Amino acid sequence: MIKTLWMFGLLAGLLVQPTFADERADAQDRQDRFIDELLEKMTVDEKISQLRLVSVGPEHPKETLIADIRQGKVGGIFNTVTRPDIRLLQDQVKESRLKIPLFFAYDVTHGHRTAFPISLGLASSWDLEAIGRSGRISALEASADGLDMTFSPMIDVTREPRWGRASEGFGEDPYLTARIAEVLVKAYQGDSLRDPHSIMAVFKHFALYGATEGGRDYNTVDMSAQRMFQDYMPPYKAAVDAGAGAVMTSLSALNGMPGTANSWLLRDVLRQQWGFDGLVVSDHGAVLELMRHGVAADPAAATQMSINAGTDMNMNDDAYLHELKALVDSGKVPMAVLDAACRNVLVTKYRLGLFDDPYLRAGVVADDPADRNAESRLHRADARDIARRSMVLLKNADSVLPLKKSGTLAVIGPLADSQNDIIGSWSAASLPNQAVTVLRGVTEAMGDRGRVLHAKGSNLSNDPLIQQFINAYEVVSPLDPRSPEQMIDEAVAIARQADVVVAVVGEARGMADESGSRASLQIPDAQQALIAALEATGKPLVLVLLNGRPLALGKEHEQADAMLEAWFPGTEGGHAIADVLFGDYNPSGKLPMTFPRTVGQVPLYYNHLNSGRPFRPENRGKYTSNYFDVEHGPMYPFGYGLSYTDFEVSPIRLSSKTLSSGGRIEAQVTVRNMGSRAGETVVQLYLQDKVASISRPVQELKGFRKIALQPGESRDVTFDVGIDALKFFNAALDFQAEPGVFKIMVGLDSVDVRSDEFTLE
Ligand code: BGC
Repeated sequence: MIKTLWMFGLLAGLLVQPTFADERADAQDRQDRFIDELLEKMTVDEKISQLRLVSVGPEHPKETLIADIRQGKVGGIFNTVTRPDIRLLQDQVKESRLKIPLFFAYDVTHGHRTAFPISLGLASSWDLEAIGRSGRISALEASADGLDMTFSPMIDVTREPRWGRASEGFGEDPYLTARIAEVLVKAYQGDSLRDPHSIMAVFKHFALYGATEGGRDYNTVDMSAQRMFQDYMPPYKAAVDAGAGAVMTSLSALNGMPGTANSWLLRDVLRQQWGFDGLVVSDHGAVLELMRHGVAADPAAATQMSINAGTDMNMNDDAYLHELKALVDSGKVPMAVLDAACRNVLVTKYRLGLFDDPYLRAGVVADDPADRNAESRLHRADARDIARRSMVLLKNADSVLPLKKSGTLAVIGPLADSQNDIIGSWSAASLPNQAVTVLRGVTEAMGDRGRVLHAKGSNLSNDPLIQQFINAYEVVSPLDPRSPEQMIDEAVAIARQADVVVAVVGEARGMADESGSRASLQIPDAQQALIAALEATGKPLVLVLLNGRPLALGKEHEQADAMLEAWFPGTEGGHAIADVLFGDYNPSGKLPMTFPRTVGQVPLYYNHLNSGRPFRPENRGKYTSNYFDVEHGPMYPFGYGLSYTDFEVSPIRLSSKTLSSGGRIEAQVTVRNMGSRAGETVVQLYLQDKVASISRPVQELKGFRKIALQPGESRDVTFDVGIDALKFFNAALDFQAEPGVFKIMVGLDSVDVRSDEFTLE
């Protein structure tokens, strides 16, 4: 009886209790009513002003901006990163007629005060927990400085190592990048955007910036719709599905139409097909650049095209501010378009909780940190942990690594003690003087158990073009006035005293940055000469590479005994590198981008089509798809990375050899740690549709699992394969799976795989 009453009570409770869906609908109604009422009150000028996103700087001095804000002429601000500055600007809103709060954005891309590894490094960890942690900490640090929004994640898939911004993305694979996109959007935005510790994610650059022709920045892209949707769009779609609040357009053009004026991208794909209901911001100056692209004759035409195409906010060039009024008056921009764009800005501010409290993140003076750069504000332990997970061991002949903490070690190279470079480009509010260099990390790890000697060995480059580029705006890499010979002589003399030489070489951070496109993928000349001289000493040679793109390392592979790809590992980079070099951490990173043998092979990527005449190793003659003057294939394939232990993967066990369209099959392997050290590795699942209505890639990543194994331990790893993993965009752009035979591959990189087949019925 009691039970029945209790059940009745529960049911009655359920009936009267509002459900989660009801609450969401109510909240949406409240938001809609609020925005509708506000829009009603706004003049055309006030609406236009909301579309203005500006940075304090030479074009917009603080005093001018303050006056503008008082007149309600600014929508959002970026590049202002301290609470007092942000509060000062937000305070001015009180003088405006409608008192609509500003939002504050910044490029928080791989950390804020604490720099984590550059994105390409984060991707190399294949560790979604670690990547998510870096994003969450970034949100905590950025929001604590008063920021509401980050222009991140940058999820442009790229097959172009020449492109400097390859460093800012997560590599060449759509599946891996999409998983990272989801994790970062959720990490930045937290459970609610109204939380003071959450910041809004602005994913970028929509779309296909990473496919820019020849890897030349800001360039053009011409691509089939199949390739676009199959290989480049999935991360953007994943970011939308994960709830990203905003998106930034691409500076590049797609099939002749720049991203900022591309209504097919912004309206048809983004909003209609994918249901995006957030904010679209242009990239920096992208509206006026439509004139140089040759699709708009003047600022008015550029403005008309951009807003009509769906670019809501105009970053920094003020085209909307000056041109929109006349365009609305003449009807060239319908009022409904202006209203929709303005609504998207207001909704963004509402979602960020700024109408309730414009100081939600900027806080009050009393709570400001006494020292904004205080050590206590950094997250060093996480930065070190995440950085060491991002490093990829490329070579380790005769187990020269890990090093012993004894004897004499020579740490040589122009990057060995460079605080500026180790934090990487787009390092937000991170300070180089808080970064740990390799020299410091190794010296601290060695302690008094051995000696650490150092010489710079060379400048980054002897090429005036490169020297001038690196120091174009400020002298970040001062040139050592000594001659190359003098520097090398000193380094060789130091190396001769050592048991092992660690050479820290690669690129200046500015070489792997926006507009940092390179025609060569080699380590610069001066450092090549240094490496050759160090090799000639006959001492064991370990190369630690700091760089932001796949390099052509064929020669260095021959010269060095071991090579560690450390990317630009961030504030704690030097400690993390020392952890790996001395074996306090067993490297577990895997390449998220193919490393070619030479720049001439580019684009070279693992998920390519087969062609009618694929390369056959048994026949190096003519008539196959191949370069005759270089060994075939990559130097290091996608997914590659060594460990200090050996892992063995069993043959694949399939739960069934056939898959029905509604079903799933399980593919299982057993992975065993064959060595004597604990370690982590990434088990990777690839599929190939062997015969389809259009040619399909030789393999595509469809799953991965990072696992940790003790010495001798083995673990079963099971992947569920369902119909979704088999789908692709066919000639009619339908996303579907076709019956037939599929090859399934599981392994520890894209080449070293076990394989089997199954049939989709
Ligand atoms: C870059 C964007 C960045 C913006 C704001 C542009 O030059 O292309 O990625 O978010 O500047 O700093």
